[in-house]
Amino acid sequence: MKKVLITGIDGQDGSYLSEFLLEKGYEVHGIVRRVSLEDPGHHFWRIRHILNKIKIHAGSLESYPSLFKICASVKPDECYHLAAQSFVSYSFEDEFSTINTNINGTHFILSSIKEAVPKCKFYFAATSEMFGHAKEVPQNEDTPFHPRSPYGISKVAGFDLTRNYREAYGMFALSGILFNHESPRRGFEFVTRKITNAVAEIKLGLLKELRLGNLEAKRDWGFSGDYVRAMWLMMQLDKPDDFVIGTAETHTVQEFIELAFGHAGLDWKDYVVIDENLYRPSEVNILRADYSKAKKILGWEPKVTFQELVKMMVDADLERLSRGKGNCK
Ligand code: NAP
Ligand code: GDD
Repeated sequence: MKKVLITGIDGQDGSYLSEFLLEKGYEVHGIVRRVSLEDPGHHFWRIRHILNKIKIHAGSLESYPSLFKICASVKPDECYHLAAQSFVSYSFEDEFSTINTNINGTHFILSSIKEAVPKCKFYFAATSEMFGHAKEVPQNEDTPFHPRSPYGISKVAGFDLTRNYREAYGMFALSGILFNHESPRRGFEFVTRKITNAVAEIKLGLLKELRLGNLEAKRDWGFSGDYVRAMWLMMQLDKPDDFVIGTAETHTVQEFIELAFGHAGLDWKDYVVIDENLYRPSEVNILRADYSKAKKILGWEPKVTFQELVKMMVDADLERLSRGKGNCK
């Protein structure tokens, strides 16, 4: 039985990836912060239903010894490094912790794998945010990086570290350059979930207005469940390589709003208020993926459309809130 180690297992992607790999017959191990173990009911809302099938280890991205010990004891065949401070807005508020956690965390886990289990395949969660002020549209594996946030900078460093461990030490280490992907398990701070949760609250009479920042920003939004399949396909290759994963479609934040409110039978103009405080100091204006390499080499294509994604998220939030549940599934 193949063993997998997932950092950030209780995040959005970690939860879908765990389900996917359990179905494939993997023994699934995950790293979480110790504080999460103290309050599992709150922290593990995305993985509660599979907790009896996976093995959880407490570890910190800030501590090399804690990561090394877990790698040495689990001895995984594959490691998916998903843990990160992933909220771009917050990275402007606390540049230092985002950069420390994301760069050192990636460095520590790469080094731990190299020392403890050098044959283990390694996946790094890179991002379209690395393209930032993109030189071209759409973006592919050859598009130069121009990050526009501390988060983006930390991910470029993680990408470079991963490539260097591949080139210098011959490790099977690769990066998936994933564009925005969402789901009913998306964190509430990200714009899609903020919108669908607000739509459900407004529909149920629990909220009167939704405050948002830049509605003109353009993103390539896909479904997280589709993207974890791409991660796994990359890791089944004989030779490591980096891949762009997205849908090749771009939509504005406003288009997402229109669809989400429309699906609930509401007119967004009655509720959405622009709040200048929610604009970012520097913005990524347009992201659109050219995923032709992944299609050709991995045979991967997204299955869930933008329209289906928006409806799935609104329906899930309506259903959850109708059951009287708060910030959980
Ligand atoms: P997410 O839901 O925010 O999950 C992030 C995970 O990282 C959580 O499990 C979180 O644990 C963990 N984490 C954060 N700081 C940590 C620390 N100091 N020590 C240990 N664990 C820590 O993110 P996601 O959407 O699943 O994304 C997964 C990865 O892909 C991230 O690296 C993200 O940057 C990257 N990515 C995401 C997208 C996207 O659109 N979703 C696109 C490209 C790349 P807690 O629950 O304890 O906070
Ligand atoms: N979060 C948020 N909140 N974003 C808003 C708001 C708001 O109230 N109003 C407008 N936006 C705009 C942001 O300015 C941004 O242009 C866009 O909505 C998307 O913001 P987020 O949903 O926070 O995602 P992101 O694109 O910054 O980052 C996500 O995708 C990256 C991949 O491109 C995260 O998942 C990153 O971890 C990931 O790497």
